[in-house]
Amino acid sequence: MSKVTRRQALKLASSASLMLMGGATLGACSAPPTMKSQTPDVVSTNAKSSTFVPDLEIDLQAVQDEVPILSGSKTQVWRYSAQVVKGAANSVIALPDNYLGPIIKTRIGQKIRVNFTNELPEGQPTIVHWHGLVLPEDMDGHPRYAIAPGGTYMYEFEMKNRAGTYWFHPHPHELTPLQVNNGLAGLFLVSNEEESSAGLPSGEQDIPLIIQDRTFDANNQFVYNVSMGDMGSMTNQNSMGNGMGGMMGSSDGGMMGTQGTQNMMSSFMGFLGERILVNGKSDFTLPVATRAYRLRLLNGSNSRLYKLAWSDGTPMTVIATDGGLLERPVTRSFVMLAPGERVELWVDFSGRKVGDEFGLNSLAFESGETMMGGGGMDTMGMVSGNAPALGASMPILTVRVITQVSETLKLPTQLSRVNRINIADAVNATSPRQFRLTLNGMQWLINGRTFEMDAVASDEVVKLGTAEVWEFINEINPGQMMDPNGMPHPFHIHGVQFNVIERRVLPDLKRLWNDVRDGYVDDGWKDTLLLMPSEKVKVLMRFTNTGTFIFHCHNLEHESQGMMRNYQVRA
Ligand code: C2O
Ligand code: CU
Ligand code: CU
Repeated sequence: MSKVTRRQALKLASSASLMLMGGATLGACSAPPTMKSQTPDVVSTNAKSSTFVPDLEIDLQAVQDEVPILSGSKTQVWRYSAQVVKGAANSVIALPDNYLGPIIKTRIGQKIRVNFTNELPEGQPTIVHWHGLVLPEDMDGHPRYAIAPGGTYMYEFEMKNRAGTYWFHPHPHELTPLQVNNGLAGLFLVSNEEESSAGLPSGEQDIPLIIQDRTFDANNQFVYNVSMGDMGSMTNQNSMGNGMGGMMGSSDGGMMGTQGTQNMMSSFMGFLGERILVNGKSDFTLPVATRAYRLRLLNGSNSRLYKLAWSDGTPMTVIATDGGLLERPVTRSFVMLAPGERVELWVDFSGRKVGDEFGLNSLAFESGETMMGGGGMDTMGMVSGNAPALGASMPILTVRVITQVSETLKLPTQLSRVNRINIADAVNATSPRQFRLTLNGMQWLINGRTFEMDAVASDEVVKLGTAEVWEFINEINPGQMMDPNGMPHPFHIHGVQFNVIERRVLPDLKRLWNDVRDGYVDDGWKDTLLLMPSEKVKVLMRFTNTGTFIFHCHNLEHESQGMMRNYQVRA
């Protein structure tokens, strides 16, 4: 066994604490915080219904805290904290010393109540969105339900999703990317019989890996140099509110000069961090034994895409995507993972030797921006300070084999029944509902529109119970100075899981597409999909809840500046 330094040992210890997926009960992550103030505009919603008897009840808070990330000063963060009120104590797994929220574990058919309290500073309304879950509209975390600091929101829902890896994060109007960057995000796992009996690694061999990028100042504090909201007014909303005033450090240069330009460009392109964090830790090392593992990957970054591959060329064995297990495993030489997307890998270390080390890397790819008309304008340099460009190669994590064991699992040939929707069931199979993603000046639009809190246009209304084909078209933008080729957009639809049924691209941009297309995994259920520049994608889904839901680009800066719309499901 190779020598492990103290620093490495600490890293190993911190990652090991994440591997309690199946078993041990961890203590509550902190004492329940007390409510600070009841401001008059606090809305307490959804009084407990007398007929709803939860199997699992959780108190959940968005709190301010500080956690160790880099050596030296702790980092001020916002994070989710949770306590089980009723139900199995290991339904909530806290991650000690981490800004990431607890892992919430549920089973299909469970009735779940979540009592959420906003304990963020003044000026930070928030609401929790359960990304990927198919829920009634008032349980889905639409921005219009955001509550002020001190407020509460009660969720009650029955778990009807497929077994899989989902997540939760804030969704307040124009504040989502700041709140996520400050730490608010957590995993939400759903299991069922089919999944438990699929023959997959479990317990300490079932490992979540949340990939994010962050920038730190000299004092180890997060830097989020983005001006959000209206692109025209360039208002500076990047201060962290009360109690986090020092967060921006010396980089809080206001909106003038380089800093202002950079803030504006980050809003336009999306925030890119200088450093990769995995499970909230820098230079993440995963200690493993010589056996098979299930790795659940979430791209929790605001805007960075990853082209993931094993450093030694081992093929990626994909067993699940956003909406749960595939029918059978598929292999890829690399896998694209856009913000909001999840992918689960099977990886078998049984042929390895103790002491072996190798990496999970993000390979270089062309993102589109670098193709700007030959003028040599260094767009990415402007956008992200010292952060690597979108599409730059980056190491993500290191795997280190530390234990020799003899038993291992065989990769199952059959994982689940996927039951895709039959295209013949769609009401518009030959005339898909089209959504054009375009650019006007520095503003990203959907069918020429920007987000309006309550508005629903006539082409954004669908009928309950029907299956529809939607076609997203990532338009190129000839004549637009900023980004004539457009950008990659990871598109996400609330309230549904969908099947991807067709992808096409303009011949001109095929070279770009070829660089990433082999990394798409479209076989199963999805809620978020990557569109490269000029790509057209058709998806098929069925609407099972009435109400108003949002769909948006999951580049969170794009979402925040208005690349989002409502759609309405009517009975
Ligand atoms: Cu994870 Cu509206 O999104
Ligand atoms: Cu979502
Ligand atoms: Cu976008």
